[in-house]
Order: sequence, then structure tokens, then C-alpha cells
Amino acid sequence: MRRALITGITGQDGSYLTEMLLTKGYEIHGIIRRASTFNTDRIDHLYLDPHSPEARMFLHYGDLSDGPGLRRILEEVQPDEVYNLAAQSHVAVSFMQPEYTTDIDGLGTLRLLEAIRDYCGRTGHDLRFYQAGTSEMFGSSPPPQSEATPFHPRSPYAAAKVMAHHLVRNYREAYDLFACNGILFNHESERRGETFVTRKITRAATRIKLGLQDKLYLGNLDSRRDWGHAKDYVEAMWLTLQRDQPDDYVVATGEAYSVREFVERVFARLELDWHEYVEIDPRYFRPVEVEHLRGDARKARHELGWKPKVGIDELVACMVDSDLELARQERILKDAGHSVAYRGIAGD
Ligand code: NAP
Ligand code: GDD
Repeated sequence: MRRALITGITGQDGSYLTEMLLTKGYEIHGIIRRASTFNTDRIDHLYLDPHSPEARMFLHYGDLSDGPGLRRILEEVQPDEVYNLAAQSHVAVSFMQPEYTTDIDGLGTLRLLEAIRDYCGRTGHDLRFYQAGTSEMFGSSPPPQSEATPFHPRSPYAAAKVMAHHLVRNYREAYDLFACNGILFNHESERRGETFVTRKITRAATRIKLGLQDKLYLGNLDSRRDWGHAKDYVEAMWLTLQRDQPDDYVVATGEAYSVREFVERVFARLELDWHEYVEIDPRYFRPVEVEHLRGDARKARHELGWKPKVGIDELVACMVDSDLELARQERILKDAGHSVAYRGIAGD
């Protein structure tokens, strides 16, 4: 049974990757952060008591800020594959917390690579490493962006990810580590964090539809993104680690739409006129913007045999339908006289 160690297992991608690897027969070890409230919602449906003979997913407390902890987990788990998905992944928040973001997304990757180098060197074990890099690294480089496009990061998040990208390449060249970078364009899903723009839109529009919310406040509607579904992207991660040689791959659909077009599609599915509900709030503008991301994933298509299955219409449909169901449940509770706390956060 192959064993995978996943940082960021509680995140959107971590949950889909775990589901996929379990179906492939892997034993999964995930690193979770200690929090004062439960933060395992996305993987609760996969959890079995570790005492159960059927259990194949195990969780370990750890943090990318804590090198010794990462080393301990690595020794304990002895994985065949390591997927580094943990990150402070919100671009706008990275302007508010640049040092923390760089510590986790940049130095955190280095801590993990160093732990792996020591572990492999000392024990003679081999393992394969995947780094979840980002199209944000291209920043202001014009589309279409491929593996050959120069990086021009436009946020602390993107700069930290560029650092991680180069470290992964360096460890591959210097220590012969099977270490690969994904350059992942935006991918979304029903499980997307609520403060990323797609989910913010589907959540608000469905709540508006059911009379639970009046307005949706957004920032820049003109930026264009290449949006795919997270399920497709975790498949590309796995395929990357199954190659004979380590390499770096752009993962993208090749199609880009503006935030405005995404809004239009979501409200149209709900038979609402978005102009009546959407307002611009300057607090959601970023100090600098990444205007246009559209990926050229031909290398992944040819070498990994990967192509996305979900296009924009299906993505919108599944996100809207899922949030509409959540809004219906909220409506029923409200109508029955229960006070339902709205979980939202200001500033991003
Ligand atoms: P996400 O939903 O924000 O999940 C991030 C994960 O990282 C969560 O499990 C989070 O734990 C964990 N984490 C955060 N800080 C940590 C720390 N200090 N130590 C350990 N774990 C920590 O992100 P995602 O959308 O799944 O993305 C996965 C990875 O792909 C990230 O590295 C992201 O930067 C990268 N990426 C994503 C996209 C995209 O469009 N989704 C595109 C390109 C690259 P908690 O649950 O406790 O917060
Ligand atoms: N979050 C957010 N909230 N974004 C908004 C809003 C808003 O109210 N209004 C407009 N936008 C615009 C942002 O300015 C940006 O141009 C675009 O919507 C997408 O924003 P996000 O959904 O926050 O994603 P992102 O593109 O900045 O970053 C995501 O994709 C990267 C890959 O390109 C994240 O998942 C990153 O972790 C990932 O690396």
C-alpha cells in the first residue's frame, strides 16, 4: 500500500486529493493545525476512528512554521509521496500579513524540503514531492502563460510562492530529489473557501435568491481568471508524481473569463438581474492587481495525458446548486424561528 503525506489536507484541494488517493488504495497521512474549533469539515466524511481496521486516513498535528514537528511526522509516516498543499492561500490577506505568508508559503516549503533531504539522506529512502505553485507567480506577464513565461509576482503571496518554486527546482538539481512544481491556475469547487471570489459570488447570489441577503459587495470586476474544477487539478498533481522524471507543469483550462462574466453566469442561472444586487466596495481592491491569467497547459496534456473535464458552465452549475441547497437549509431554520449565524468576514 502506497503512503502519501499531505500538508493542507483540511483545505479544498487536500480534501479532493485525499478522496482520490483513497480510491487508488493509498494510506493517507494528513497534517492539521491545532485550532480551538474543529477545522476538519472538508474531510470529516472520510474520517474513521484510527483504531478501526478499515482506517486508511490518519491525522497528525503540525504546522509549516514548525520544522522539528515536520521532521518528526516524516520519520513516523515514512511516506512514498509528499504533497505540499498547505499555505496562507489568500492573495488579499497576504498584503495584510506579508511576513506570516512568506514564512508559511516560502520558508515553510524550505522547512519541508530540508526535512525530506535529511530523512532521505540518512535512511536511504526515496520519496516524491509535489509543490502546489500558482499562476499568481506570473503576475503581470501577459497571457497565455506557460512553463516558459517569466514570473512577475504582484503580491507577497505570489513572491513567497516564487521562492518556493525555485527552492523545489534547486533541491531537485542539487540533491537529486524527485521534486516537482505544479503551476496551478485558479480552481474552484463547492468546497472553495468562502472568501475567494467565485464562492463569495455563488454563496451571496443563492442567499439573495432566498431572501437571506440584499447585496453583494465586490472589488475589481475586470480581472480575468482561468477557472477550473479542483477535482481535475488534484488528478494532475498525482499524475505529475507518477512520471519517470521529475518536472514542472502548468495546470489550466486555457479559457479565461472576467469576474463580471462569472457574476453574470451565476445570477443568470438563478434568474436574477445582477445589476440590482452587486455593488462595488473599494475595500476589496488590492494594492496591485493581476489582470489576466490564462494558462497554456499543452505540456501537461502531452506528457501527463491530463485535460480538464469541467468547463465554466458546469463549474458555475455545481457551485450554484450546492450553495442553493445550503441557502435552503438556512431558510428552513430561519422560518422555524432559529437564529442562524451568518459566517462571513470583512476585509477580503
Ligand atoms: P485552502 O483551501 O486555503 O487550504 C489551505 C490549507 O493549508 C488548509 O488545510 C490550511 O489549514 C493549511 N494551512 C494554512 N496555513 C498552514 C500552516 N501554517 N501550517 C500547516 N497548514 C496550514 O487552499 P487550496 O485552494 O486547497 O489550495 C491548496 C494549495 O494550492 C495552496 O498551497 C494554494 O496556495 C495552492 N494553489 C491553489 C489554487 C486555487 O485556485 N485553489 C491555485 C494555485 C495554487 P486550515 O484548514 O487549518 O486553515
Ligand atoms: N477574493 C475576492 N473578493 N476577490 C475579488 C473580489 C472580492 O470581493 N472582488 C473582485 N475580486 C477579484 C480579485 O481582485 C481577483 O482579481 C479575482 O477576483 C480573483 O480573486 P480570488 O478569488 O481571491 O483569487 P486569486 O486569483 O486572487 O487567487 C486564487 O487563485 C490563485 C491562482 O491564480 C487563490 O486560490 C490563490 O491561492 C491561487 O494561487
